[in-house]
Amino acid sequence: MSYKYNAAPSPAFVLDEALLRKNLELIAGVQRDAGVEIILALKGFSMWSVFPFVKRYLSGATASSLNEAKLINEEMGCKAHTYCVAYLPDEFEEIMRYSSHLVFNSVAQYERFRSAVSVHNANSADTPISCGIRCNPEYSEVETELYNPAAPGSRLGEVDAAFATSPNGPAQVLPDGVEGLHFHTLCESTSYDLEKTLAAFEQRFGHLIPKVKWVNMGGGHLMTKQGYDTAHLVRILRRFKEKWGVDVLLEPGSAIAWETGVLVSTVLDIHESRGIKTAITDISFTGHMPDTLEMPYRPRITHVSQNGEVTAATDPHPGNAQGMLYRIGGVSCLSGDYMKEYVFEKELMVGDRIVFEDMIHYTMVKTTTFNGVRHPDICILRETGELEVVKKFGFEDYRNRLS
Ligand SMILES: Cc1ncc(COP(=O)(O)O)c(C=O)c1O
Repeated sequence: MSYKYNAAPSPAFVLDEALLRKNLELIAGVQRDAGVEIILALKGFSMWSVFPFVKRYLSGATASSLNEAKLINEEMGCKAHTYCVAYLPDEFEEIMRYSSHLVFNSVAQYERFRSAVSVHNANSADTPISCGIRCNPEYSEVETELYNPAAPGSRLGEVDAAFATSPNGPAQVLPDGVEGLHFHTLCESTSYDLEKTLAAFEQRFGHLIPKVKWVNMGGGHLMTKQGYDTAHLVRILRRFKEKWGVDVLLEPGSAIAWETGVLVSTVLDIHESRGIKTAITDISFTGHMPDTLEMPYRPRITHVSQNGEVTAATDPHPGNAQGMLYRIGGVSCLSGDYMKEYVFEKELMVGDRIVFEDMIHYTMVKTTTFNGVRHPDICILRETGELEVVKKFGFEDYRNRLS
């Protein structure tokens, strides 16, 4: 059988090394042409076995917790740009050891920790930690509220009014020692969305930009998606840099691992209830692809039958009334752990493979072992064509999560 993920165990996430390289080359090109730093957001992609490979192309990585910051130090060999919605006091010393940059979600958080940073910087031989504050431009093109950091009343970042009430000085100033501004309001967005966001950011925070050394424009820049206008992205980033004379950083997660691999599953049973057929598989939507239920979105599916035939399943529409309808069922007991009917060209049989496309970003980092469901193995399809299983999950992994 020629299907390229055929040698993978099931269930398994399979990262395609050649596709990852293609993304990294594109991103490195933007980084070079725009003169900005692009760093990996671990929250979107934490498959650390490929961090040394990623580090060949990108400037570093951003962490949203102590664990992510430590992983960046250990597996990427560099300090992290760290942003936490709130820092835990008993973790802060350690976070400082692992970080080159710290972004605070509020002026109050900065005020709470700034003396600790000053003491750290005075006693450390390393380059001093550079501090920034997350701003909320209150503008976003993201329509799903779950993914919209600029929704009214958002807890993510300070609105412009927060700086007017800073206890630290006259109206409209940054607290002493702040060297950077950060915003993040995009999600799978275009460069044109960024352009509009920059206009809102400049309108609300333009008076603060000349006071800082760097601006971090967060994630959500889906530059590796087909059709993304990278030349336009480069133009607006260069223009921003030239206008304000600041260093610019982007911290995408999805863009790094976009369309770089799959989740392979196997049909375990065909269940029928009053005419509705469900192909029960060895994966769980809630356990392994929670965004398909939360967002919600429909994953693209490929059917690989046991005789090697490869066909795409499609959404039902008048043009494909001839196919066979199956729901795809997860193996957990959650009633909603399934995807509504897809149309298959061929009958599904126990043992056939159902391959979920584009399952590397945000899936692996969000998995759970709910119901004790078997966690998919993690594999890499090397550029040589060899399939390497980099991690197999078993009872110990399940047991070690709790006590
Ligand atoms: C602060 C911050 N930076 C970066 C990212 C990465 O975004 P994306 O994976 O959409 O590029 C996120 C995602 O939620 C985020 O919250």
